[in-house]
Amino acid sequence: MSSIVNEIKQKVVGTSTPQGQHLAALLTSKGSALERDLGFFIASYPAIPGSDVAGIVISAGSSVPTDAPKPGTRVPAFAPCFFVQGAPDYGALQTRVLVPAVKTVELPEGMAFNEASLLPMAVVTAWSGWYPIGLPRDTSYTAPGKQGMLVWGGASSISSAAIQVAKMMGFKVYTTASEKHHEYLKELGASKTFYYKDERVVENIIKAAKVDGVTIDNGFDAVGQLPSSVEILKALKGEKTAKLASATHIPEDTPKVEGVEAKFVAAPLDERERTEFFSFRF
Ligand SMILES: NC(=O)c1ccc[n+]([C@@H]2O[C@H](COP(=O)([O-])OP(=O)(O)OC[C@H]3O[C@@H](n4cnc5c(N)ncnc54)[C@H](OP(=O)(O)O)[C@@H]3O)[C@@H](O)[C@H]2O)c1
Repeated sequence: MSSIVNEIKQKVVGTSTPQGQHLAALLTSKGSALERDLGFFIASYPAIPGSDVAGIVISAGSSVPTDAPKPGTRVPAFAPCFFVQGAPDYGALQTRVLVPAVKTVELPEGMAFNEASLLPMAVVTAWSGWYPIGLPRDTSYTAPGKQGMLVWGGASSISSAAIQVAKMMGFKVYTTASEKHHEYLKELGASKTFYYKDERVVENIIKAAKVDGVTIDNGFDAVGQLPSSVEILKALKGEKTAKLASATHIPEDTPKVEGVEAKFVAAPLDERERTEFFSFRF
């Protein structure tokens, strides 16, 4: 944290309590999580960062749909600081936060605020991974034949969501992580787990999928291991071009590999499309 503060030469100033807006809900925050906002761009100061929050709805704007969580409801929410470039009312790291109603959902009883605040960015990013690689998001979709999904960096927060969603969509999930996480990742839905520091990890994944008779046309790389993920997809893909969603920035000079296309994980840029997309995810 001190390096971040030093870097941006932060000066603390007071801000007023956000006022309700027509499509947004005002939350009183009961917990928030620190996450790495890749490429987060602050347009001007004062600014408040943070995307992950859980709290209680205090009030809803005039056009909030009737099926949105009502005042008094406990919710996790995805605060839109990234999309509004740090505008103070919308950052999660404060007591009262304005969030679009489509980015909230009622919290099940028994789940604590601090647990719930870990979910929004992780779950949203998993779905944002399927968007640029064109996977149908209908959760009743069943991958045809014996289809696998490679998830590189299975123990990251975004991958623990991606593994569950991929399994739910019908994929056999092959993932990499430290050995201490293997059992847990299998509980989440991974079929096979591999230790990423093993020098034969790529070879082992390819061999295992071949033995299982599985083709892997899709992948999710959470930690920037593009060359390994691309090599695996190239070896295991079917007839189509394989697609890899990369949660980390893909440098422009990354060599292109025939038959494998890598895309940066991102929600739709068009605001209307994005609103619909978030409404589906929440
Ligand atoms: N594009 C987007 O919209 C978006 C959104 C959110 C986050 N991100 C980015 O996604 C990345 C992951 O974020 P996160 O918060 O989920 O991370 P995280 O939870 O902090 O992930 C840490 C885990 O990554 C694993 N790991 C590290 N190096 C690895 C390697 N070479 N191979 C396999 N696993 C490795 C480690 O697993 P072990 O414990 O098993 O060693 C570690 O536990 C970050 O770079 C973040 O900036 C992008």
